[in-house]
Amino acid sequence: MQGTVEDVDVPSASDVLRRCRELVRPALVDAVGRLHPWTGEMAAYSLGWSDTAGTPEPGGSEGKGVRQALALLGAEAVGADAACAVPGAVAVELVHTFSLLHDDVMDADALRRRRPAVWKAYGTGPAVLAGDALLARAVTGLAETPGHHVAAAVRRLCGALNDLVAGQAEDLRFEHRPWDGPGAVGPEEYRSMAEGKTGALLGCALALGAVLGGAPEPTVAALDRAGRHLGLAFQAVDDILGIWGDPATTGKPVHADLHRGKKTHPVLAALAGGSRAARELGTLLASARPTDAAAAERVASLVEEAGGRAATRGEARRHLDAARDALRATPLTRTAARELDVLFAGLADRVM
Ligand code: IPE
Ligand code: MG
Ligand code: MG
Repeated sequence: MQGTVEDVDVPSASDVLRRCRELVRPALVDAVGRLHPWTGEMAAYSLGWSDTAGTPEPGGSEGKGVRQALALLGAEAVGADAACAVPGAVAVELVHTFSLLHDDVMDADALRRRRPAVWKAYGTGPAVLAGDALLARAVTGLAETPGHHVAAAVRRLCGALNDLVAGQAEDLRFEHRPWDGPGAVGPEEYRSMAEGKTGALLGCALALGAVLGGAPEPTVAALDRAGRHLGLAFQAVDDILGIWGDPATTGKPVHADLHRGKKTHPVLAALAGGSRAARELGTLLASARPTDAAAAERVASLVEEAGGRAATRGEARRHLDAARDALRATPLTRTAARELDVLFAGLADRVM
């Protein structure tokens, strides 16, 4: 399609994200401004707006704002004005920020977006509290929004929160499961965990926009499904970057998942291969967790040799295709559907 007259004015993924961030920014600033000043300072740090002294750092380590963009595009895709989805966009962005604060505590990851994680910068107790504050603000802000569709929107958000917590529970429990044998984590268990921890909120973001835009239930459900597939693609990419990513680019530590015994897709797929490299990998992982950099490098190269990296790319591609198919099978406005397509492709493109 490239180069045809039709596509001339389709913006890039980063243009779409920027436009949406600009639309949501005032409401997000207002929401953070309603927090207790101390939790508000940690929230501002975590959102990349300020440093640990509370000094503004414009554009410093801001996230991409994928979830807020999905909420606005969800509304536009059903023919509504993006403005009606701003409270939903704020809610999903706050929930995302809360989940990262708590996730870095759970995963003991000291680095996020190239800076010390909130728990490293402020302490674990304060980081947990700041996460709680963001979660409470997210639900409160949405519940207080005027309009007919708010109760349905709050129900959606609460459903996604429960799925996210269940996904995180599985993720943590899997750390203690064996790599091989009867207790091993199966592909369906991995999928359910990843859909919960990552897919649920992405699906919710899109669905919330559509709900607030007054869309019928089948459209909302299709957008939720598209977002969940996008989440599975996104998590597959995240798992790859956790093993082979460059911390200078990802802003996150590399090999942390291997050190913690996280059941990530590339390693599970590699072990399922049955090759010589897979058997060696199995023996290595069964003997001990890779505790130093050299051991993690060895595991990473065996995973690659056993086909784990390629299999996970395939998994990301399949879920990206399923996400795009779900969009195409739904009656959506043309411009927003195209922008969503560009955004979806851009997100999975991080390693493909
Ligand atoms: C994070 O999953 C999911 C949530 C925050 C709910 P991961 O632990 O795999 O993500 P990163 O790699 O720390 O961002
Ligand atoms: Mg993590
Ligand atoms: Mg985690």
